[in-house]
Amino acid sequence: MSIERFLTGITPSGTPHLGNYVGSIRPSVAASLRTNVQSFYFLADYHALIKVEDPARIQRSTLEIAASWLACGLDPHKVVFYRQSDVPEIPELTWFLSCVLGKGVLNRAHAYKAAVDKNTAAALDPDADVSVGLFMYPVLMGADILMFNAHQVPVGRDQVQHIEMARDMAASFNHRYGPHFIAPEAAIEENVATLPGLDGRKMSKSYDNTIPLFSSREQLQKLISSIVTDSKAPGEPKTVEGSAMFQIYQAFASSSETDKLRQAYANGIAWGDAKQLVFERIDQELAPLRAKYQALINDPGQIEAIFKIGADKARAIATPFMAQLRHAVGLRDLRAQDTASTKATKQALPVFKQYREADGQFYFKLQSADGKLLLQSNAFTSPKVAGQAIASLQTQGASALAELAGLVTLVETSTEAELDEALLALREAKAESKAK
Ligand code: TRP
Repeated sequence: MSIERFLTGITPSGTPHLGNYVGSIRPSVAASLRTNVQSFYFLADYHALIKVEDPARIQRSTLEIAASWLACGLDPHKVVFYRQSDVPEIPELTWFLSCVLGKGVLNRAHAYKAAVDKNTAAALDPDADVSVGLFMYPVLMGADILMFNAHQVPVGRDQVQHIEMARDMAASFNHRYGPHFIAPEAAIEENVATLPGLDGRKMSKSYDNTIPLFSSREQLQKLISSIVTDSKAPGEPKTVEGSAMFQIYQAFASSSETDKLRQAYANGIAWGDAKQLVFERIDQELAPLRAKYQALINDPGQIEAIFKIGADKARAIATPFMAQLRHAVGLRDLRAQDTASTKATKQALPVFKQYREADGQFYFKLQSADGKLLLQSNAFTSPKVAGQAIASLQTQGASALAELAGLVTLVETSTEAELDEALLALREAKAESKAK
């Protein structure tokens, strides 16, 4: 099976709350434990500079968010967990991408347009108080994603436009300089719960209705007891529909526990008792995580060490990839032979070679554009069957390896990602020649 790369960025601009935990941290940590995925998680601190002016707040938020993810079980040995600003290749790639992306695309970005509309409505200059950073936000995000050729980017609906823009940047760059980038896809989290906040509206920093993920047990209890309820008296049946308390409980409890609370509502449980139940259930899940969180917060050096490991892993990919991209655009050693004009680079494609051996059997192999052996077939009795295997690879990419088990072998020095990339390049070249 081919390895899928997932990538998620978290902007360090505040303190994680229960809504972040239920909607993002908990499901992402669970997803990162799956096999056959390679996950990238990073603190998008360059992005934070766009909206946070207070340096101390960026530092504090980076610490709190990193400690939260680690306390909730993100395993820095299994995933690549890093801080964006530790990877200088990302801003460099941002520049490359900004040179292939049309400015008009950014004019249409939701966040920028909203700022312009607001200014226009207030009869101000359309760009009043809009920084170039805000305008460029989607390009930096595109660089985050394309730097690691992520296949899937789990995001909320509000971020889908950014992923589309990243695809746009990938396509423009590939068109001009050859197939370097994979087009990323937005993985929209459909059934992830959004948690109501203290006032019953969606829990969000902008409504000032949040419950911090890692407040003390006492503070958690106090906040939960301040969640809005109706004024039904003890003994009066209560409805679960529209009850913020009930929804919050549901996000933590098992379905049989939830059924019990539903029954208790019908039986007229007193709000005070319901609140106590909800508090204890949440605290049961959070207490062990809270202890880990505190230990991490008190030892920032440990998080720095983890970031260092993450940066090393990220740069082991980013540095050589950026060197490849610099070469592709023409930022090259002056002694390098200019055989690779843009055109030639585009035409250098991986190639399937079919041949017959002295044993009379038919074989094929796949070589990458630069001549590296990627795939070797076993013996086929007929060229037709060999051709069918090639066709499956061409249409399905590396995922065809499963059905071709025993017929073809990925050579030891190659990865499925390389194979996928080569097959993708062939597919794109075919699509392009058809389009002509
Ligand atoms: N824009 C994202 C947010 O506000 C954060 C982010 C930055 C991100 N770079 C990213 C998310 C790359 C996914 C991929 O939530």
